Amino acid sequence: MDMAVTTSGLEPIETASRDELQALQLDRLRWTLRHAYDNVAHYRAKCDRIGITPEDLRSLADLSRFPFTTKDDLRQTYPYGMFAVPMRDVVRLHASSGTTGKPTVVGYTERDIAVWANLMARSLRAAGATADDIILNSYGYGLFTGGLGAHYGAERLGATVIPMSGGQTEKQVQLIRDLRPTVLLCTPSYALTLADELARNNLRPDDTSLRLGLFGAEPWTNEMRREIETRLGIDAVDVYGLSEVMGPGVACECIETKDGPHIWEDHFYPEIIDPLTGEPRPDGAEGELVFTTLTKEALPIIRYRTRDLTRLLPGSVRSMRRMAKVSGRSDDMLIIRGVNLFPTQIEEILLRNPNLCGQYQLQISRDGHLDRLDVLVELQPELSRRYSADDREAIGRDVAHHIKSMIGISAAVHVVETDTIERTVVGKARRVVDKRPK
Ligand code: DLL
Repeated sequence: MDMAVTTSGLEPIETASRDELQALQLDRLRWTLRHAYDNVAHYRAKCDRIGITPEDLRSLADLSRFPFTTKDDLRQTYPYGMFAVPMRDVVRLHASSGTTGKPTVVGYTERDIAVWANLMARSLRAAGATADDIILNSYGYGLFTGGLGAHYGAERLGATVIPMSGGQTEKQVQLIRDLRPTVLLCTPSYALTLADELARNNLRPDDTSLRLGLFGAEPWTNEMRREIETRLGIDAVDVYGLSEVMGPGVACECIETKDGPHIWEDHFYPEIIDPLTGEPRPDGAEGELVFTTLTKEALPIIRYRTRDLTRLLPGSVRSMRRMAKVSGRSDDMLIIRGVNLFPTQIEEILLRNPNLCGQYQLQISRDGHLDRLDVLVELQPELSRRYSADDREAIGRDVAHHIKSMIGISAAVHVVETDTIERTVVGKARRVVDKRPK
């Protein structure tokens, strides 16, 4: 697979015509369907049940006739039932922990790992990183795909990687000070935790060597982007991915436009569907993102339902289509007193108030027969000691008023001090605690 970079700094496929790209996709899609059908009994059974075979794919549009794959399929065949190669050809496993039950296990051949490293390197390059950068990788190493996925990409780019992993925030600040990294990789919520710690050490945004960050693994808004950019004095770029499809680097924003991640469509075929009916929706329409891998050997995945809600947009500075920033996961959608709500909608409102920072949590409970929403949000760290309890209450009331008028829901907003809201180890923030009886 040719992934060499030309003098423009891009791989030829990144600027190929749509026709060329689609021809490649069709070829690779045929290969994937055949590979999965021949080697994964679970897929074969699902296809046979509706009487469809790989030969029925004559155009890209025919893909919509094939059955979806869900996390449930991976659970039913736990741990290795969806692998399409013998275990001897699998060189790496990762696992993603769901909220309930068994984790999902994913596997990679040597070639899968090489493709992943190339795509993560392509992502870093799109985000503006080069071989001259020193990259502080603060995504968690281990079963989570973030740490190792980003690590291999950074090495493939030829940059210098500091394999820090998540957590140990004081140590991270020491490394930022001493090793002078220029690029930061972590979740957006952890970027804010680092910003707090830098502030505690009297380091201002311009005092550090950092110039760029690639943030992902959880939904974040453009308001959060501005917050991170101001507090760390860097450019913040959105990187997207998921373990079942590969890991980080399925899609990434380009630094020159920051207009939503470009999906690396030569390796992943995206669709948007109506999450309720499963019907395909046209480009531009909001819905659930579905992916079919085009080159994965160990774990080819057909029409995987990500649960992520977004829109497909035309390419801008690449031929590949973009996805709009993820607005939420269909399983994160809260229904509070009948009103549908995504945490990102609250995030947008909170971050319009300059006193507040992006560390927040929604707690839902039942008060008699009624749902109750409490929003906990932290003050900007430098304000933490300056504001009285009365000041904080006033800010809370003001934000509650905006939530009521924009979303139509009454919430109690509690403005709390820095470090009050729990942080998670891998670095993915826990935005929702639903205490309602099931
Ligand atoms: O979070 C892979 C990753 C690591 C992506 C590091 C980017 C950076 P999982 O743990 O399997 O994999 O979680 C995948 O996280 O379906 C989305 O809901 C969410 N997610 C990942 N990236 C973004 C993003 C990694 N940029 C799930 N924006 C996905 C919004 C994201 N949500």
